[in-house]
Amino acid sequence: MRSSEKRRWTVSCVMADAMDHAKGHAAWLVLGLLLLSGLCYAFIWTPIQAPRDELDRVLQAASRGHNRTLIITVLNKAYSENHGMLDLFLRSFSLGDGTRPLLSHLLLVAVDQTAYDRCVALGLHCYKLVTDGVDFSGEEFYMAGNFVTMMWRRTQFLGEVLRRGYSYIFTDADVMWLRNPFKTLNQSLEVDVQFSCDGFNGRADDPANSINTGFFFVRSNTQTITLFNAWYEAKNSSGGMKEQDVLKGMVKNGTVGEMGVRVRYLDTVYFGGFCNDRRDFERLTTMHANCCRTVRAKLVDLGLVLEDWRTYRRGEAVPPNPHKTCLVDSWNELHKH
Ligand SMILES: *[C@@H]1O[C@H](CO)[C@@H](O)[C@H](O)[C@H]1NC(C)=O
Ligand SMILES: *[C@@H]1O[C@H](CO)[C@@H](O)[C@H](O)[C@H]1NC(C)=O
Ligand SMILES: *[C@@H]1O[C@H](CO)[C@@H](O)[C@H](O)[C@H]1NC(C)=O
Ligand SMILES: *[C@@H]1O[C@H](CO)[C@@H](O)[C@H](O)[C@H]1NC(C)=O
Repeated sequence: MRSSEKRRWTVSCVMADAMDHAKGHAAWLVLGLLLLSGLCYAFIWTPIQAPRDELDRVLQAASRGHNRTLIITVLNKAYSENHGMLDLFLRSFSLGDGTRPLLSHLLLVAVDQTAYDRCVALGLHCYKLVTDGVDFSGEEFYMAGNFVTMMWRRTQFLGEVLRRGYSYIFTDADVMWLRNPFKTLNQSLEVDVQFSCDGFNGRADDPANSINTGFFFVRSNTQTITLFNAWYEAKNSSGGMKEQDVLKGMVKNGTVGEMGVRVRYLDTVYFGGFCNDRRDFERLTTMHANCCRTVRAKLVDLGLVLEDWRTYRRGEAVPPNPHKTCLVDSWNELHKH
């Protein structure tokens, strides 16, 4: 209301001014002054898009020049230690084909102070996820109860990012980025979510594919916001079920489809994992250490993936790599306890 009054006032002043000086070039003068007043109006009365809080600030920064689209990973103390998962994850961006520039669109969401400090020291985009009443940095973090709480907090956070109008690739840090996934993902606006899978049955639209929430692309729109709200709302009735299993259930039993969310399932040839490793380096885009029981085993076998990738990039024959530490040793280790 007030700003439109100001506009009228500006315009009428300009008109009065223009009439006083009206001679041969009156028309040009009026036009010029109108333009000038328009510019002044734009500068003075248009609110500058200032971030309203820290989350807005980091989302803006990480998606700059990338059409409100970014990459999100969540990090804890255990993953952010030196020579740990975070280092391997970042190393994959350096070794990957055209992946290094994507680091400027990566937002690291830290769930404890150690992870946050490490992120800041690395000069990345960082956000500290605060959770009422739970100290995720303490030893008890590794116990089942708090882990589930943290994962639900993560779901809530990912929904909040969508509500703020940002689309993103969510990636676990135990996913190696070998090529730019944005080039391989379906760019159609008709697709709302694209999930990586533990196993792919050849049909990109079949909910029978077993999704893995360690890597997915989600577009911010009404349908996906509804989906993420419903996912989080299932928390209280989930009976302690892991948030990933709740979403899997919602996909499998058709709830997601009924919401009008258009889902596509990603081929493991491009978005691979240890569960279903076809190792076609010509097409492999990301590689996830799924079907692996321990962090130590993941570090060993993902390290080997990067070695193999470098061998491939040198044009040499890549030796077979059955991910034994993950697929065999890590499970035996578990049974010993
Ligand atoms: C940016 O995203 C919007 C909404 O998702 C889409 O309509 C538009 O085509 C995109 N622009 C580019 C240049 O990709
Ligand atoms: C992308 O998704 C749309 C909508 O489901 C589909 O029609 C199209 O064929 C897909 N494109 C590719 C390259 O798979
Ligand atoms: C879950 O229950 C608690 C209290 O029991 C409530 O405060 C919270 O809002 C509920 N959360 C959801 C997502 O419904
Ligand atoms: C589908 O599965 C989800 C997650 O397990 C559950 O919350 C929901 O009630 C199920 N819906 C139907 C219609 O079975």
